[in-house]
Amino acid sequence: MPAGESFYITTPIYYPSDVPHIGHGYTSVAVDALARWHRQGGDDTWMLTGTDEHGQKMLRAAAANNVTPQEWVDKLVTESWFPLLETLDVANDDFIRTTQERHEKNVQTFFQRLYDRGYIYAGEYEALYCVGCEEFKPESEIVDGTGPFEGLKVCAIHSKPLELLQEKNYFFKLSEFQDRLLELYRTRPDFVRPDSARNEVVSFVSQGLKDLSISRSTFDWGIPLPWDESHVIYVWVDALLNYATAVGYGSDQETFDRRWPAYHVVGKDILRFHAVIWPALLMAAGLEVPQGVFAHGWLLVGGEKMSKSKLTGIAPTEITDVFGSDAYRYYFLSAIAFGQDGSFSWEDLSARYQAELANGFGNLASRTTAMIQKYFDGVVPEPADYTEKDLEIQQIVADAASKADASIEQFRIDEAISSIWTIVDALNGYITANEPWALAKQSNSGDEAQRGRLGTVLYTCAEGLRALAVLLSPIMPQSTEKLWVALGAAAELGALQDQPIREAGAWGVLRPGSTVTALAPLFPRVEQTA
Ligand code: MSP
Repeated sequence: MPAGESFYITTPIYYPSDVPHIGHGYTSVAVDALARWHRQGGDDTWMLTGTDEHGQKMLRAAAANNVTPQEWVDKLVTESWFPLLETLDVANDDFIRTTQERHEKNVQTFFQRLYDRGYIYAGEYEALYCVGCEEFKPESEIVDGTGPFEGLKVCAIHSKPLELLQEKNYFFKLSEFQDRLLELYRTRPDFVRPDSARNEVVSFVSQGLKDLSISRSTFDWGIPLPWDESHVIYVWVDALLNYATAVGYGSDQETFDRRWPAYHVVGKDILRFHAVIWPALLMAAGLEVPQGVFAHGWLLVGGEKMSKSKLTGIAPTEITDVFGSDAYRYYFLSAIAFGQDGSFSWEDLSARYQAELANGFGNLASRTTAMIQKYFDGVVPEPADYTEKDLEIQQIVADAASKADASIEQFRIDEAISSIWTIVDALNGYITANEPWALAKQSNSGDEAQRGRLGTVLYTCAEGLRALAVLLSPIMPQSTEKLWVALGAAAELGALQDQPIREAGAWGVLRPGSTVTALAPLFPRVEQTA
């Protein structure tokens, strides 16, 4: 993507019926890393996240706590969902709540438009509903209950009984969009990624689409339909609209034209809403469909999708309190192939923290800065003539930077990190092979040539670290910032987040003469894990 283009990316908006767990945090840090990368690449970037506050799930959570739904969501959003962004160092540009006027009013505008265009009609409905999913379930996701729910039909995802709902609803003519959707997936093969998600969506739509119930009349916690206020808009379609209302749909055309369409990153559990229903709604309204939908996998704990309702939920702070937010971000983004499921375990987290962060990256940074302090009084040395081994490092840095950028374009964050990590591994090997301490000894005993060689070796390490700081800053903003300052780069080159990431692989950016300062261990030893 050429620099300067609009890059609008979203997380799903989360249900604040309960507190966040590491699965929610996973989506948010992934989107944040992608947004930071593009922002640093000079793209006109906008990252949106937020909360999905209507619907029956919320109504019941509030009732169970003896407060109004508005009080419940206000409390949860303020006490748990805003703080999550700080806990995980997420630099979102906006946070939308579906109870905000900017959303509610323009959702009504949108549905009035669909109604006026003839895409909505009234009908009777009877089907099994899962409040956990906030969805009428298709046959394929209904299973027989076991244990306490023996004899009942339960949701395949939540394992909780389904409720038979029978009411007058308004329907959206989703069935009319089958051909246009299939055409969309065919002409834009990247619309749904990865391929496994695309295949699932294509096969689902190929089997034919049923019209979608878009209103409910048995409760009132939602946005009223503008032409029939006895109905509230179905929570899922209300929620999908957030992506448009947050960037000015219905209120600020200029901003909307600048930002829309968006890239949506979602968990695979909510892929169909985003890749089928959402584009159909947009087509019906005469708006552009999203740039693309990327479905990531689930975090599994003990082999099952982690969730609060199944009591496998882990709070993000349980991890960040021990390992820090950079380690959280690094771990989930590097250890799980983005798009596939991944198992979480404390042992794996702890082992990778020690091997990759503390011993790999952290140690490289400490050793290099300490040696420049010791052998060159804290001044980045001028490199002398480069040998083949030094040029190899330069090539590795250039390749890693361009491969990482290509991977990020494809939303493959894990691949990008593994390309960047070739620099960490190569530099650690380079230090071992070049033995700067031995060169220092020889130069102390008067061997001038070795002094020059020592300068080249340490410049190579410091410049490699400069590239690493730039390339890793979207993933680990805190430790890279510390490294950036310690290398003297902040004083000479300006703020880390202003360094053009797509030029990170160029050699010779760190200026000889920069002042290197002490660097506390970036990833201190963790004595005990939970
Ligand atoms: N409110 C809807 C989304 C509306 S978007 C218009 C919703 N909310 S949610 O809070 O239940 O989940 C939101 C997202 O959290 C999921 O799509 C997924 O991205 C993430 N995850 C929730 N549990 C997860 C795991 N166990 N693993 C990975 N991601 C998980 O659905």
